[in-house]
Amino acid sequence: MDCFLIRGGRRLSGSIAVAGSKNAALPILAVSLMTGEPCRFRNISQLRDIQTQIKILNTLGVESHWAGKVVETRVRDSYNSTAPYELVKTMRAGVCVLGPLLAARGECAVSLPGGCNLGERPIDLHLRGLEALGAEISIEGGYVKAKAPKGGLRGAEIYLGGKFGSSVLATDNVMCAAVLAKGVTVIECAACEPEVVDLADCLNSMGAQISGHGSPRITIKGVKRLKACDWSVIPDRIETATFLIAGAITRSPITITGCRPEHQLATIDVLRQMGIRVERGRTSLTVVPAERWKTAEVTTLPYPAFATDVQSPMLALMALAEGTSILTERIYPDRFMTAAELRRMGATISVANGQAVVQGVPRLTGAPVMASDLRAGAALVIAGMAAEGETRLSRIYHIERGYERLDERLRKLGAAIERVADEDAAPGAAG
Ligand code: EPZ
Repeated sequence: MDCFLIRGGRRLSGSIAVAGSKNAALPILAVSLMTGEPCRFRNISQLRDIQTQIKILNTLGVESHWAGKVVETRVRDSYNSTAPYELVKTMRAGVCVLGPLLAARGECAVSLPGGCNLGERPIDLHLRGLEALGAEISIEGGYVKAKAPKGGLRGAEIYLGGKFGSSVLATDNVMCAAVLAKGVTVIECAACEPEVVDLADCLNSMGAQISGHGSPRITIKGVKRLKACDWSVIPDRIETATFLIAGAITRSPITITGCRPEHQLATIDVLRQMGIRVERGRTSLTVVPAERWKTAEVTTLPYPAFATDVQSPMLALMALAEGTSILTERIYPDRFMTAAELRRMGATISVANGQAVVQGVPRLTGAPVMASDLRAGAALVIAGMAAEGETRLSRIYHIERGYERLDERLRKLGAAIERVADEDAAPGAAG
C-alpha cells in the first residue's frame, strides 16, 4: 500500500481544473442498462469507484470501452441480472443499478450494500419507492430481490422522505424505475442534489419525460423505451469545494476552473462568514485568502445546504480559525473519524452527539495519520499542506476512490506532496 508524504507551509498558486463528478457518473453509467442502444458517457473521471461500477455493469451483460474520459457501453446480453456482493460490498453506490435493472428487465437481485465508515447506511427508502411502483421486494441471503408485476411497473405518488430528509440514491433508483413504468409517477421529498438533476437530464436526452428535478417534487411520465445516450457529466461539486478549502487553508489565491459556481453557494457562504472571499467567474472560482480567519457555525443538510461530503475538509479549516467553531452533522452523525486524526496534528476538537466543537489553534504540526474514507482523506491532505513539518498519510486508497491523481494535480499548484510506498503498513492492515 502507498501513502502520501506532505510537507506543509507552502503557498499554492495557479489554477486547477475540476474533474467530472463521481456522484453523477455512478448513477448515470447505470442507465446503460435501460436501453438496447449504444451509450457514450463523457467527462468520466479515472476513479476506483467508476471502475467498480463498470465491473458491476459488465457482470450484468453490459460491454464497455473506456478511453480517457469517455466510456462507451452497450447491452450485450441480459443473462445475468444479479449484482454480486463481491463488487457491491466495495462500493455502496452499486445499489444504484437496482432501479435501472428492474425497469429494464422486470426482475433482478442486488447485493445489500455493506455498512461503511460513515455508519449505518440503510436502503429502506429505495425499497419503499420501488414497492410503491408495484415491485415485489424480498431480502434473501443478503440480496435485495425485486420483481415487477406481470403488467410491468405502474406510476404512483411516492413520498420518499426519511428521518434525514431526502435520499440521493433512493431518488435516483425510483426515478429510473418510473421512467419505464406505465403512467405518471410523482416523487415527493425527492433529493435536489445537482447529481440527481444531471441523471434526470441525461434520461430526458434519451427520451424520458421527467420534470421538476432539482426540486423536492419530481414528475415522471413513463415511456415505452429509451433511445441512445451521449452525455457529459457535470463537474465534481465536492472536489470543487475541497479545492476551495485547500486554497483557503494554505492562504493561496488559487483558481478552480471548469466548475459550476452555482453549486457552491453554501460553501462560499461559510467561507465568507470566516472572512475568506471567493471571486466567481462563469465556470471558475478564485480564492481571495485571509491570513487569519474567523469561526463559523455549520450544519450539514441535503442540497442546497452545506454538504456532508465537505464536512471533513471544513473541519480542517475550522481547526485553524480564530476562536471556537461548531459543526453539526445531520446526515451521518458518526462521520467524524477525521477529528481524531486532526487531533494528532494538534487540533482541538471535541465530538459528541453528532456535533464537533472546534477550538482554533495557531498551527497544526505534521504527523502520521490515516484516511478513513475518501472525504476524510482529502481533509487530511489539506491539513497536511497547512501544517508545519511532514505528514505521512496512509490508506490513500480511500482517496483514490473519489479524487483523480490528487497528488499530481496539487503538485502542479506548488504543493509538496508525493506518493511513497508505505513500508510501515502492517500486513493485513487493509482498511
Ligand atoms: C449519496 O449517498 C452520495 N453518494 C454520498 O457521497 C453523500 O454523502 C450522500 O449522498 C449524502 O449527500 C453518491 O452519490 C454515490 P443518502 P447516498 O441516501 O445516496 C439515510 C461521497 O463521499 N438513508 O442521500 O447513499 C442515510 O443513512 C459519498 O462521495 C436512509 O435512512 O446517501 C443518510 O443518513 C459518501 N434510508 C441519509 O439518508 C435510505 O434508504 C442520506 O443518505 C437511504 C438513505
